[in-house]
Amino acid sequence: MSHLLSYVLLLSIAGFVSVSCRSQVTISRELRNEGFHRTLVSSIDIYSTSETYPCSLLLVEYLPGSVYVDSDQLLGLVAKNSLSAFLNTSVNVEATADSEKAIPFKAFIFPADQLTPKITRSIELPLHLRYQPATSGGGIKNINIGQPSLFQRCTKDNSDPTAKTFDLACSSLDRSLCKWTKLDATITPAILTTGVPAGNTDLGLYVSIASYVLLYGATFYIARTIYFKNYY
Ligand SMILES: *[C@@H]1O[C@H](CO)[C@@H](O)[C@H](O)[C@H]1NC(C)=O
Repeated sequence: MSHLLSYVLLLSIAGFVSVSCRSQVTISRELRNEGFHRTLVSSIDIYSTSETYPCSLLLVEYLPGSVYVDSDQLLGLVAKNSLSAFLNTSVNVEATADSEKAIPFKAFIFPADQLTPKITRSIELPLHLRYQPATSGGGIKNINIGQPSLFQRCTKDNSDPTAKTFDLACSSLDRSLCKWTKLDATITPAILTTGVPAGNTDLGLYVSIASYVLLYGATFYIARTIYFKNYY
């Protein structure tokens, strides 16, 4: 009996230790505002019991070509909040969603360092939806924004030595590569979806049919008038 008891006790201690060593990370996301100008808000909560901080953080957003980020606005964001950011590519802000210049891109966002075991960071990234080409039926075109990845780089690194690391920019100022560990984050919702209105080519078709009918009607009328004038 006492054996069983100590066994259960040992198991629960082992369970507690393995859980408490892991950090708990949640990211809840939302797209604010309506229309073509949105704000992608990511609220990051980190709770880690292992004393590895201070740690630098890096959030990588994988964004579709149907949206863009204005680099001037990105600089403003940096000035306003205690974070820094850059994009992996120069973004064409004029291209429509069907243009070959509307390419997917990555945003590298460095929030303020983690200095305590429990931190909260709210990241507000201004996003602009590109104008959609007109399609048959028009309506709303869906845009999906997938999950970001959150990486950590700690001064005192006592992470699992077998953990996979990624070579990514050290900071937005120092673009040389550092080793980052990916955090196992619970991200909600899994995919953000928003609608953007597209023009309707069907209306264009009616306009075309009406003008053709009018044009051919008028041509036939003139031709008939000329014909009857000549032979009668
Ligand atoms: C930026 O990242 C996107 C998405 O991963 C990729 O398709 C694109 O080629 C990258 N651009 C550059 C210039 O590296």
